[in-house]
Amino acid sequence: MVPTLPPDAAGAAPGASEGVGPTASVQFGQYPPARRTILHVSDTHLLAGNRPLGGRYDTAANLARTLEAVERIAVRPDAIVFTGDLTDLGEPEAYAALKDAVEPVAERLGAPLIWVAGNHDQRTALRRDLLGLAPSEDPVTGVWDLGGLRLIALDTSVPGWHHGDLDDGQLEWLREQLATPAPLGTLLAMHHPPIPSHLPLFDILELRDQPRLADIVRGADVRGILAGHLHYSTSGTFAGIPVSVAAATCYTMNLARPALEVNGMDAGQSFHLVHVYDETITHAVVPVVDAPTSDYFSAEWVERMSLLTPEQRLEAFSRKR
Ligand SMILES: [Fe+2]
Ligand SMILES: [Fe+2]
Repeated sequence: MVPTLPPDAAGAAPGASEGVGPTASVQFGQYPPARRTILHVSDTHLLAGNRPLGGRYDTAANLARTLEAVERIAVRPDAIVFTGDLTDLGEPEAYAALKDAVEPVAERLGAPLIWVAGNHDQRTALRRDLLGLAPSEDPVTGVWDLGGLRLIALDTSVPGWHHGDLDDGQLEWLREQLATPAPLGTLLAMHHPPIPSHLPLFDILELRDQPRLADIVRGADVRGILAGHLHYSTSGTFAGIPVSVAAATCYTMNLARPALEVNGMDAGQSFHLVHVYDETITHAVVPVVDAPTSDYFSAEWVERMSLLTPEQRLEAFSRKR
């Protein structure tokens, strides 16, 4: 359960509430602005020398387009979370390329970077070439305090395999972390999502033994689970907890096909803009597309609205002419 806090009881957000721009502090409806904002990106699958993934996908270019979109939002997020399959083969050079591409963006946005391991990653190289740590085969886990919101990264990868699992040691570690609740609750970030997919191929590569994880998160302060792996955006619940899967930056699954014939396509890439409110968490899918976009709404428009009373705003913008 998450305590309902009075405004500012949990302290100022480390980033989101400062740099969002003029619209951040306005409240035209029933909900105060989000307490925390997280960018959820997944499945970058970089290859050394930027070899085309599967002979056809330019993963570095697609990541660059995603990062440009991330910066265009002009939000200062509390964290940027990458939910695994950071590289396709775990090559040191691919981790170095990922680091070079993403770290300057995170620096400009003033946001901590949270890297989660996926089945395509290689723990020793990930630790050494991306995190700058001593190489080891230990699970890549971590805990972040994002201004009272706790984010726990789990490592569902199984060295040598593509399915997911959490061993006894990691589950026990998670139980210990969750023994103490966080002021704004907890988000888990993991690669393999603990929800079903309608695509048979992902049944083979699912997170195994999910009831063991359910036993640990049930009744704790976990408010949401961020995941990847599927290369399409989807959501569900696990042990009563909302699960949100971000699609990939590299390629996505063309779901406009019979489930047995779904394959990848170089389109539909997106990431998620996660807003953490007192009562709920929303996960907005942000398509990475170049499309002509109108410019009716603007900071000036919001400013004009903010000078009106609530009744005048309804008159000005809600009443049908
Ligand atoms: Fe992937
Ligand atoms: Fe995966």
